[in-house]
Order: sequence, then C-alpha cells, then structure tokens
Amino acid sequence: MFSDKDIAHFSKLETPFYYYDLNLLEQTLNACYAAAKSHQFHVHYAMKANFNDMVLNKIKAVGFGADCVSGGEVDKALAVGFAKEQVVFAGVGKSDKEIIDALENDIFCFNVESLQELEVINELAAARQKIAKVAIRINPNVDAHTHANITTGLDENKFGINSWDMPACAALLKSSANLEFIGIHFHIGSQITNLDVYKNLCNRVNEFAAWFEDHGFTVKVLNVGGGLGIDYHNPNQQIPDFTAYFKIFADFLEVKPYQEVHFELGRALVGQCASLITKVLYVKNGKKKNFIVLDAGMTELMRPALYQAYHLIENISRLAAQASTKYDVVGPICESTDCFGKEVPLPESFRNDLIAIRSAGAYGEVMASHYNLREQVRSYSGEEA
Ligand code: LLP
Repeated sequence: MFSDKDIAHFSKLETPFYYYDLNLLEQTLNACYAAAKSHQFHVHYAMKANFNDMVLNKIKAVGFGADCVSGGEVDKALAVGFAKEQVVFAGVGKSDKEIIDALENDIFCFNVESLQELEVINELAAARQKIAKVAIRINPNVDAHTHANITTGLDENKFGINSWDMPACAALLKSSANLEFIGIHFHIGSQITNLDVYKNLCNRVNEFAAWFEDHGFTVKVLNVGGGLGIDYHNPNQQIPDFTAYFKIFADFLEVKPYQEVHFELGRALVGQCASLITKVLYVKNGKKKNFIVLDAGMTELMRPALYQAYHLIENISRLAAQASTKYDVVGPICESTDCFGKEVPLPESFRNDLIAIRSAGAYGEVMASHYNLREQVRSYSGEEA
C-alpha cells in the first residue's frame, strides 16, 4: 500500500524503477527469524531471489546466512559481510574456478548435485590441501504442485542426485579423503502454497537421513531448501505465515539432538517488499481490446512473460477511481509475450499515470535484462522517499 507521500515522491523520479519498502522487509525478516528460532532452525537466504545491496544489508543484519548459486553470489555475500561460515554454495553447474574460489574462501559447505561434481571437488580440494565440507543434494521425487517451470524435485528435473545413485555416492564419499560429509540437502520447487507437500518432503528427508546413518555417516545438517510461496493476489496481506511453515517441519522431521535443520528461503522473505513502478506511455483503445503501453517491460520484470505469472497491477494515480475498463497491460519490448496482464480491470487510464506492479521483490530486479539495449533498471527505497 502506498501513501500519498510515496506517490508524490514517485512522480518526481524517472520511471521505471523498483521501489523497496524496507520497513516491510524488516518486519518480514523479523517474523521469519522469530518463527525459525523457536525451533532452533537456521535460515540461509537464497540470494538468487534478490541481491540488491539494500536488501542484502537488511538480511545480513537479521543474522541469516547466504545460499549462493554462483561464484558471483559467493563473492557478493562475502563482500556485503556475510560470515564465511554462513555461506553455502549450491547449483548444478559449478565451474572449476568457482569451486576453487569457494575453497580458498573456506565457505561453510558445497551442496553437491552430481557424482562427478563430488569427484571434482575432492580433486580440487586435495590439490590445495583443503577439506571441502559437502552436503549431498538429493532429488527426492516429491511433487511440489507448483508451476512446472519452477518444480525441481522430480526424477525428470536436472537437480540433485537421484535416489538410486546413493550407494555410489556413499562409496565415493568414503573413498574421498578431501571431502567431509556434513549432511543432506533438498529443494523441491518454488512458490509452494500447498504446505502439505512439505510433509511428503519431510518423510523423504527422514528416509534418506536414516539411510546415510545406517551406512556409517553422521548426518549433521538436514537442509530442506526453500520454496514457501507468497500471495500474489493480496500483496497488502504481506507477511507469509512462517509459523505454520516451520511447524510442519517441527512436526514431521525426525531431528536428532546433534542435527541442525537448515532452510533456504528466498521469495517468502523478499517477494512482497518491492513494486515495479512504471508510467503509462500510451493508451490504445481498440474495438476488441484496449491496451496500456508502459515504460517497463519484460526486461524489467520477466516473470509474466516467462511463467505467465500473475502480478497485481494498480493505477496508483487513480486509486480512488472505479475499475471501469479492461486493458491488456503491455511493455515496449518487441515480443508478444511482453505483457504484464490481459483484460486487467483498471480505472480509465491516461498517459503519464503511474502504475505499480506489485509483489516484485523476488526474481524481479535480479532477472532484468538488457534485451533491446534497455537501460539498467533503477531502484529506490522508502528510506529515501
Ligand atoms: N534453494 C534452491 C536450491 C533453489 O533452487 C531455490 C530457488 C531456492 C532455494 C529458493 O527458493 P524460494 O524460497 O525463493 O522459492 N525465477 C522463478 C523462481 C526460481 C527459483 C529457483 N530456485 C520465479 O520467478 O518464480
């Protein structure tokens, strides 16, 4: 929700830009931290969701670790001040250079996604007389019941090591002198709104943890990934129910006294704290359709074009007016999928009206591109307003 002061401020800024509500971010982080702490759960923030400095600084201040998926993210996490013991490096395609840099930086652990990657990390660690801490990312074949493009834990997905490879994985861990096994890792998908799927995940985690312990390993870390969804239809109902989310794991995971439970939340922490603020360039009233052409497009927020994702669109220059007209809300990019919403009910809209595309804090600014040689998108926070 925007105050009159916010809107007056926006009208002085060059559009399009991401507007971050850092107060809301802080409230969300505090709610998550408190809910996790009540079960002694640990959260590593999935940096891929948003690595804007303003956001990272708040997240670091709360005390979360960083879950990184590239050398760039590891460097960034360390540069903004996350402790190296709180940096996890995941990802299906870590390059040799990325692995070497992470070894040199003594990060907390690698989440390993293939048998070959285990061999490579062991060799690269041996060459540097290092012991690499590793968690095995297991593909649990659990359906997350979310959009197919953001499902990661099924046999047909590229992520993790499949269950039938566990004996080979255990043998490799035992024969690799420069690897220290610390635990197991899972991530079944993103924008998960049906919490029941996490019960199925917990059952699989319990099975795999028992399997490793039966085979002579100590499983210190149970990393269950992230994926908690947000309500894109109600961006003003902003803070996800972290209590209910963590309770599922508290109830269904079998946690031994020496084990830690780790989470990698991204979207739930940052999703609601930003909007993309853009201006109406043109209104085209047609016989069959009315179009609003914005100065932001898929280059600034790719989710609708890529996943047909829904984001609430508001004309914040006319908040009091009735939504009397239906518009296809499109961007300026030369692609038909450059569309933020079809038949969107809005007040009658005019050139230079300000439009807010809500719930854009996660996988928004970070997925922006230069396609059509677009300028890099700007960002502001309420603290500057
Ligand atoms: N851990 C791993 C291993 C992941 O792959 C991801 C997200 C996360 C944690 C964080 O998931 P979250 O809590 O944010 O759901 N660009 C897509 C989402 C891609 C998610 C990729 N992995 C979107 O805009 O919906």
